[in-house]
Amino acid sequence: MYVCLCSGITDQQIRDAIQAGDSDLKTLRKKLGLANSCGMCVSDAREILTAESDRLAEQAVMVEIVDAGQKAA
Ligand code: FES
Repeated sequence: MYVCLCSGITDQQIRDAIQAGDSDLKTLRKKLGLANSCGMCVSDAREILTAESDRLAEQAVMVEIVDAGQKAA
């Protein structure tokens, strides 16, 4: 789905950048060219950033739990 129509940036491109370590809107703007024109995409981009960051944090916790379980076994 296109998030930024002005620059043709999709939600997947934003998620990929977050997974690659871009953790704030300023960096996403700089790297992807997101929100550099009308700014209508900022709200959706923030929602994706929050959701993806939360998902990655939950995933990291799950990995730690699995690792701890394997060490204990
Ligand atoms: S929709 Fe992203 S800058 Fe216009």
